[in-house]
Amino acid sequence: MSHKKVAILISGGGSNMVALVDSMTGDHPARPCLVLSNDATAGGLQRAAERGIATAVVDHRPFKGDRAAFEEELVKPILDAGADIVCLAGFMRVLTDGFVSRFTGRMLNIHPSLLPLYKGLHTHARALEAGDAEHGCTVHEVTARLDDGPILGQARVPVLPGDTPDTLAARVLEQEHRLYPAVLRRFAAGDRSPVLLG
Ligand code: GRF
Repeated sequence: MSHKKVAILISGGGSNMVALVDSMTGDHPARPCLVLSNDATAGGLQRAAERGIATAVVDHRPFKGDRAAFEEELVKPILDAGADIVCLAGFMRVLTDGFVSRFTGRMLNIHPSLLPLYKGLHTHARALEAGDAEHGCTVHEVTARLDDGPILGQARVPVLPGDTPDTLAARVLEQEHRLYPAVLRRFAAGDRSPVLLG
């Protein structure tokens, strides 16, 4: 059986990308084929290169808000790499339906909240503001609606007294690094049943 090829899109440090790449070994049905960033200074690019993964950069800034033109360039390295699955991992650009529809049913994202709670940004501060007793992260299939789409996995963490957005984010991030690899392994094997971690 040949492996599913996975392209991972990042914008920053790429800790989720590293967790995914390092999980794709042995009898895992997938292998990384590309790490792609919209930011040439993304720390994850170096971490991918250290792991022997092909990298590419398509800087969004020259396109000055012309999302379609940016996405026309962004999609090229993904197609050239022959990716079967696309994983957004700390990728901070909103993608239009034009791009998303090219990967219907095979593009995943991790979002740092228990969706459908707290779509968008500043999720940890919003959970604290709301006085939630627990928080967490979600892996979902990407559709045209932001942070929407079928849920493929969730991991929960307690909110603790004295938590700040940073302490809560760090606790969630630890779970992201467990959840995303578990979901990708199951998804690459053709199983969409949700992974639910405590
Ligand atoms: C993390 O806060 C994560 O919740 C979100 O993107 C941020 C950076 O992740 N998905 P990474 O370290 O670049 O993977």
